Amino acid sequence: MPRRRTVLGIVVASLVVLAAAAGTTAAIAGLRPPEVTMPQIVPQPVSLTTRDRAPFELVGESRIIVDGAGAEAVGEQLASAFRSSTGFELPVIARSAATTDATTDAARHDIALTVAPGSAPIGHEQEGYALSTGAHGAALTGDTAEGLFRGIQTLRQLFPPSIESSERVGGFGARWLAASVDIEDYPRFAYRGAMLDVARHFFDVTDVKRYIDDIALLKTNHLHLHLTDDQGWRIEIDGWPKLTEVGGTSSVNDERGGFYTKADYAELVAYAQRKFITIVPEIDLPGHTNAALASYPELTCSGQAPALYTGIEVGFSTVCINSEETYRFVSDVVRQVAAMTPGPYLHLGGDESLSTPEADFVRFIERVTADAALTGKTIIGWHEMGAAKNLPPGTIGQYWSFTRPQEGAEEDTLTFVQNGGQVILSPADVVYLDMVYETGSPFGQAWAEGPTSVRESYGWKPTRIIDGVDEDQILGIEAPIWTETMHRMQDVEYMAFPRLASVMEIAWSPMAEHDQHDFEAFAPRAVAFSERLEAAGITVHRAPDLPWTPAQ
Ligand code: ACM
Repeated sequence: MPRRRTVLGIVVASLVVLAAAAGTTAAIAGLRPPEVTMPQIVPQPVSLTTRDRAPFELVGESRIIVDGAGAEAVGEQLASAFRSSTGFELPVIARSAATTDATTDAARHDIALTVAPGSAPIGHEQEGYALSTGAHGAALTGDTAEGLFRGIQTLRQLFPPSIESSERVGGFGARWLAASVDIEDYPRFAYRGAMLDVARHFFDVTDVKRYIDDIALLKTNHLHLHLTDDQGWRIEIDGWPKLTEVGGTSSVNDERGGFYTKADYAELVAYAQRKFITIVPEIDLPGHTNAALASYPELTCSGQAPALYTGIEVGFSTVCINSEETYRFVSDVVRQVAAMTPGPYLHLGGDESLSTPEADFVRFIERVTADAALTGKTIIGWHEMGAAKNLPPGTIGQYWSFTRPQEGAEEDTLTFVQNGGQVILSPADVVYLDMVYETGSPFGQAWAEGPTSVRESYGWKPTRIIDGVDEDQILGIEAPIWTETMHRMQDVEYMAFPRLASVMEIAWSPMAEHDQHDFEAFAPRAVAFSERLEAAGITVHRAPDLPWTPAQ
């Protein structure tokens, strides 16, 4: 079994002593013995030291004491995660207004969230954090509110899974204990993404907010929305109303059409921002455009609108490359989507343009990316975009071939690196979450060397896919879900969990020796994390390659 490397090492000091200490308290109080569980955290922190100290206990009098820019909003989110299950008030109070200081008895049950320069691990100011729990209290610090937000995902996992329940848990005597630990943590890759295809089936604002909540638990920091495809156009564009009036109505099997108004989209962007998640909008061009062509025949070379499409084939549509109307359309769309998007990225697709002659494809991509770069956004394209060598400097390539590159994918991807850009890795045979877990799965497809087990989703090496794309050339990792076979958010969750946990651990946790993560060490943590999701009412697939405990 490969040895897992940790930067500062993992020290598991006496949990026996810890449990015994907690047991004594319980015996004195005459209450049900508390359960202090061994920390099982996903993604695995950089450094986790379990201390030989009594645990931290959240009680009815506990407060969340906040200090520094943005700490209060993070504190409110932590409080709302814990209030329903515990029934505790958990007031969020500014440090300056707190009446007891940190040394008093009451403060032992407080959670202190502090944003202050110099408190994250050095060199990891953006998302790093430090967390210490024990009988002295719980203290989480970061240089930024974003670091604190990543840290509260870890703190949540120190408590029993039932703390995630939206209903009151236990009655008199229920105790909420967190093991005593010291953690320092920060991400391996800056970009850790999930992609949701809202084009094959539409997912409304409520659904997308739910997915944002779900993915935030794993410290995911980007949500890529695949907004347009053959089966549907999902974003309102001023001056082109038929995109949504016509192109927004269809979906695979005509099961679930719809679109986002600009106000809806703004609501999603703002919601994601509160969770420190950046929305990455994708307008897929020049192929995957049937819904646009069905709405505006002038975008086709024949001037004939095709019918709306409800199947699942790819590669049959293209906008007319030789028509100035096409460029007027793209320019309007790109400008409006860029204006709606505070994040730095604009994804322009470029995949599977099988009906666009190669020379036309290159000409189109070079023209529209140059124009789109004028918005100030960094352009992202699927790796096929790299067939065009004259891209705006710094354009990001999203690699979606297999862990063993197929059909020129390697060469296309290297274009981005040679052009000063980085790569987002989405190797389809391991991180496409719409691949079936096993044969007989109710959802999903198998074309990317599926089935894809949890073990496979964890057992790959980011730095070993493309020669010339090493740690420094990798911006990050993204796990897409294509929704041909799913139209309910529960279906999406079933496909995502637990495999998104695998992918986000590879994206966040330190590089293992030879970049080979240890599945045997991950598996029990994946189970613990999944039980937490189940307690929160999130759908999980109890995939057969994990050591599940029987459902309660
Ligand atoms: C893709 O799966 N066509 C990016």
